[in-house]
Amino acid sequence: MNKYSILALLVLLAVVSADKCQVTLPRLLIGDKYTNATSDVTAIIAFDTADECKGVATLNFNKGDPSFDFRVIDPVLQAVDADLDHNGKEKERVKYKKYTQIIQLKADVQQSYTVQIQGNITDKTTVFATNYTFILPKLPSNNTKYAQNQIKFLFFGDQDLTANGTSVLNYLNSNTQNNKFDAMIYLGDYAYEFYQNNGAKGDSYIEKFAPLSFSYPLAMAPGNHEDNLNFTLFDQKFFLPGYNKTLNKYNSFTIGMVHFVHINLHYFSITTNDEKDKMLKWLKNDLAIASNAGQRRNVPWIIAVGHKLNYCYDPYYANNTECIGYAQQFLPIDNLLSQYGVDLFLVAHQHYNQVMAPMARNQLQDYKLTNISSNEFNLQKGKGYITIVQGNGGCVTPAIPQSKSRVLDLASDLQKANLFIDPIHYGYGYINVINQTNVQYVSYDAINKKELVTFNIKSQHQQSGSSSTTFGSLITFSFVILSALLTAF
Ligand SMILES: *[C@@H]1O[C@H](CO)[C@@H](O)[C@H](O)[C@H]1NC(C)=O
Ligand SMILES: *[C@@H]1O[C@H](CO)[C@@H](O)[C@H](O)[C@H]1NC(C)=O
Ligand SMILES: *[C@@H]1O[C@H](CO)[C@@H](O)[C@H](O)[C@H]1NC(C)=O
Ligand SMILES: *[C@@H]1O[C@H](CO)[C@@H](O)[C@H](O)[C@H]1NC(C)=O
Ligand SMILES: *[C@@H]1O[C@H](CO)[C@@H](O)[C@H](O)[C@H]1NC(C)=O
Ligand SMILES: *[C@@H]1O[C@H](CO)[C@@H](O)[C@H](O)[C@H]1NC(C)=O
Ligand SMILES: *[C@@H]1O[C@H](CO)[C@@H](O)[C@H](O)[C@H]1NC(C)=O
Ligand SMILES: *[C@@H]1O[C@H](CO)[C@@H](O)[C@H](O)[C@H]1NC(C)=O
Ligand SMILES: *[C@@H]1O[C@H](CO)[C@@H](O)[C@H](O)[C@H]1NC(C)=O
Ligand SMILES: *[C@@H]1O[C@H](CO)[C@@H](O)[C@H](O)[C@H]1NC(C)=O
Repeated sequence: MNKYSILALLVLLAVVSADKCQVTLPRLLIGDKYTNATSDVTAIIAFDTADECKGVATLNFNKGDPSFDFRVIDPVLQAVDADLDHNGKEKERVKYKKYTQIIQLKADVQQSYTVQIQGNITDKTTVFATNYTFILPKLPSNNTKYAQNQIKFLFFGDQDLTANGTSVLNYLNSNTQNNKFDAMIYLGDYAYEFYQNNGAKGDSYIEKFAPLSFSYPLAMAPGNHEDNLNFTLFDQKFFLPGYNKTLNKYNSFTIGMVHFVHINLHYFSITTNDEKDKMLKWLKNDLAIASNAGQRRNVPWIIAVGHKLNYCYDPYYANNTECIGYAQQFLPIDNLLSQYGVDLFLVAHQHYNQVMAPMARNQLQDYKLTNISSNEFNLQKGKGYITIVQGNGGCVTPAIPQSKSRVLDLASDLQKANLFIDPIHYGYGYINVINQTNVQYVSYDAINKKELVTFNIKSQHQQSGSSSTTFGSLITFSFVILSALLTAF
């Protein structure tokens, strides 16, 4: 008999008297400190209740392994009483108070758990009568057999519940059995003005993630649309493992063969010089550890993730000076990412799907590109990091603005780096981490249910400070795939 089939139900907390303890928006979050088996916290289950409901939640676990452990910490108050807006638009007077209930998990990552959460056991109207089964993503193991550390993760951003975004989400939700991902990285800008309707807009969106985040544990990155009150409202909602307000702006975690570094470039652009310095110090330290030779032998891939990007090439706004200016604005970040041999930077913000050849210090770096078929490429990089923009989750703002000129008038390394761009298909991306040198990136069109493009990416993982190049001379050719652009006219 399989030992995991023995159901050991634990009723953890006594039900005490409180109203409005109905469990809403359950979510399984990973992030900061999702590191290794010795960390305190591997993941958290969070949910919202209308009242404080301290100690009211009931959690039933199918406990399959004695190493499984968890603790309930004090709820976090989500309180707002303010006029909120996005860059002066979409203004709304918002006043609400609710709570995020937090259960920190320390779990064995190799097996599956089933959890049932009930806010009020006698209240049959609880929305969370469902049992969710989850498997936490693989932690790195000290094993030269990289095959055992393979992971596949999903990522996308810029999505709301308008028609295209809803279609993408519905597709993902209906395919959790066929699509098996170890984890999901959300690249920011959810719901487009989450605070509207007194917070209900964001909540309806997150409700969609209940099944999804228990299928693929969610690492949530904030976007610029979440910067209200200095990201406070976002932080209260997406209380990350090992939570710490500052670290919610930048944090790192390791899954299988990948060290993920989350950096909030929008925060970098709006915060004080002191905070900028702190962020740079943190990033330098984190990357120095991740890229040291011993560590990199076990965890060869370093992948930065976040909402805003530094290498921004937007052919749809002829004079998108803001986008072009990011390279200069975020140069101190770029210096660290290139110095420590980051492989990829996964971003959103621009509402299209794009792959940019490796760049560093605002210059195109060595790479080799082989065309396998019209939508599959081999991309081999020397130095610098590849930028993948997955901002085509589907939201209220179309990728190609009606009113703007679409003339290409930028002749720079940024334009040369543009290997693939598509502004009209909605979906998500995923990366299959195959072994120490190879990953496969697939961009999936969830509306037409087909792969948009595939890049087989090979990296030698440039050592920190290394100036030697793996490949011969710099390949100077470049091309821009114009088909998407042309069909859009
Ligand atoms: C549970 O819900 C029932 C029905 O709404 C209510 O009478 C009871 O007081 C609630 N108990 C707790 C502990 O919230
Ligand atoms: C595991 O994580 C803890 C806490 O982050 C850290 O102190 C420790 O060095 C890590 N161990 C290994 C082997 O990476
Ligand atoms: C959830 O699990 C509990 C404990 O095994 C069980 O009693 C209950 O029927 C399950 N609920 C659903 C909806 O499957
Ligand atoms: C990893 O394995 C190698 C070889 O077996 C060993 O020398 C090293 O000490 C191990 N490292 C850790 C952190 O366990
Ligand atoms: C982060 O949060 C923990 C737990 O609340 C706290 O002990 C620690 O001092 C915080 N660190 C920083 C840098 O704020
Ligand atoms: C924003 O929050 C960070 C910590 O999360 C804090 O250090 C900083 O001072 C805040 N900035 C403003 C303008 O309040
Ligand atoms: C872009 O801006 C520059 C400088 O302001 C201007 O000279 C140029 O004509 C503009 N191009 C387009 C296509 O609007
Ligand atoms: C790639 O090769 C195929 C087959 O030769 C060709 O049809 C396609 O246009 C090429 N694509 C690019 C971007 O070069
Ligand atoms: C939704 O997708 C369709 C098809 O690509 C497109 O025509 C439409 O503009 C999109 N809607 C928005 C709001 O982007
Ligand atoms: C890594 O994966 C690639 C692509 O599947 C394969 O060609 C290569 O041989 C693998 N390398 C190792 C060392 O297994």
